Amino acid sequence: MASILIVDDDAHLRQSFEKLLSQEGHTVRTAASGEAALALVGSQQFDLVIMDVRMPGMNGLDTFQTMRKIEPKLPVIIMTAFGTTETAIEATKMGAFDYVLKPFEIPEVLLVIEQALEAGRFMRSRVELDVVPESASLEAIIGRSKAMQEVYKAIGRVAPTDATVLIRGESGTGKELVARAIYQHSLRADKPFLVINCVAIPETLLESELFGYEKGAFTGAVNRRVGRIEQANGGTVFLDEIGDMPFGIQAKILRLLQEKSIERLGGREPIPVDVRIIGATNRDLEASLAEGRFREDLYYRLKVVTLWLPPLRERSGDISLLSDFFLARFAQEMGISNPGITEKAKALLDGHTWPGNVRELANTLQKALIFSRGCPIGPEDVVQAIGSDSPTKNGREDVTEETIRQWIRKSLATADAENMFEYFMDTFAGLLISEALKLAGGNRSRTAKILGLSRPTLLSKIEKYRLKLETSVLSDSTE
Ligand SMILES: Nc1ncnc2c1ncn2[C@@H]1O[C@H](COP(=O)(O)OP(=O)(O)OP(=O)(O)O)[C@@H](O)[C@H]1O
Ligand SMILES: [Mg+2]
Repeated sequence: MASILIVDDDAHLRQSFEKLLSQEGHTVRTAASGEAALALVGSQQFDLVIMDVRMPGMNGLDTFQTMRKIEPKLPVIIMTAFGTTETAIEATKMGAFDYVLKPFEIPEVLLVIEQALEAGRFMRSRVELDVVPESASLEAIIGRSKAMQEVYKAIGRVAPTDATVLIRGESGTGKELVARAIYQHSLRADKPFLVINCVAIPETLLESELFGYEKGAFTGAVNRRVGRIEQANGGTVFLDEIGDMPFGIQAKILRLLQEKSIERLGGREPIPVDVRIIGATNRDLEASLAEGRFREDLYYRLKVVTLWLPPLRERSGDISLLSDFFLARFAQEMGISNPGITEKAKALLDGHTWPGNVRELANTLQKALIFSRGCPIGPEDVVQAIGSDSPTKNGREDVTEETIRQWIRKSLATADAENMFEYFMDTFAGLLISEALKLAGGNRSRTAKILGLSRPTLLSKIEKYRLKLETSVLSDSTE
């Protein structure tokens, strides 16, 4: 999957990481010193570096600074032990992706690694406009419809400016993809691009995640933490689902846009930052305004440059192009040859209204590909794939529902848990995710796709429900 470089003078820790990350499917190289790491980074491509701070010879911070000159977009996670946290904080201020404290909790480290890899992918994998890429694994915005041509033009117009951009459109219309395309075509393309999902992060954490905090700002703030916005200085911050941003934080974003500065929680001085903001939302912002859930001043500030993505049902001709693209991609991902699709099946796809837009089309094709078992995808596969999203549509699913009801009734009568609701929801969510993981052969990206979750959301749930994660591979390693 990804190629990761571990830099630490502790041989035991290098081995533990190598084992853990290879099990996760990554290619791992190791270096015992900063000098060795720089030589490796200069000679081959990595997707991520995980590096200790305290090493004999060149220390982690100096190594990081030099590495950044060689590979400005390579995400680096700094490992730090008690006593070296200040250095790690310095590193994040200079743009390191994050730091983790030794000894580690494995799920926590894996989550940071996944986030860093995703951040790196977002920066490096180029989103092509208006061409079907030669390889199905490359990313592209597919579509030739008039509506999409307008979108390409708008991207071209806004990308090279420093203007704040608001991307709107129904769920699954490609807002995130467009945000990345704007970044990649911008003057800041060689600077960091950080994504903050305003819904995925709990409200209590979002503020400190965005703005950081000073030591002692609140109980538990034992060290200063540099926020994402400060970390992305010089670059671009993508505030995804900005329409769901808590009201209190909206004021701080407005201030960032107006005064180009932020304040860390508990901080007294404004810190000047130079970031470009791209926001996206599928919310009816005008309704949110009326309900008092979105600040009017921020709304007017954001909407100056708005890019509307059309729903898929209004992109005449694009469904067919997209279908071919996704089939090629999923077949490649599954390691099978592309079975193709019949004309009748295509007509069915064309006639559907796609409330979930491109994401729904992609999910449907992925399922249809599984159902078709190597034969060209026919109408029955499409019907089954679309139907499996709405459980009450066919008899077989009703039987399943009845089974679940029976189990609930039995459990309600016998269980004596205090938080009954939570207990059931957790049980369901855990089962759902573990079954989806099985279906996807353990592949998390595919699992996320099947469930319609973003990868970070999925990973945080895997962590929450502690699904299939070994412990103690790294936790015994301390400095
Ligand atoms: N025009 C397109 N060409 C190729 N892939 C697309 C296109 N539009 C969307 N996709 C793919 O569809 C999926 C959903 O797109 P994306 O996540 O950008 O939607 P979104 O508008 O951000 O949705 P939401 O509001 O639910 O967050 C992604 O996997 C994306 O890569
Ligand atoms: Mg999105």
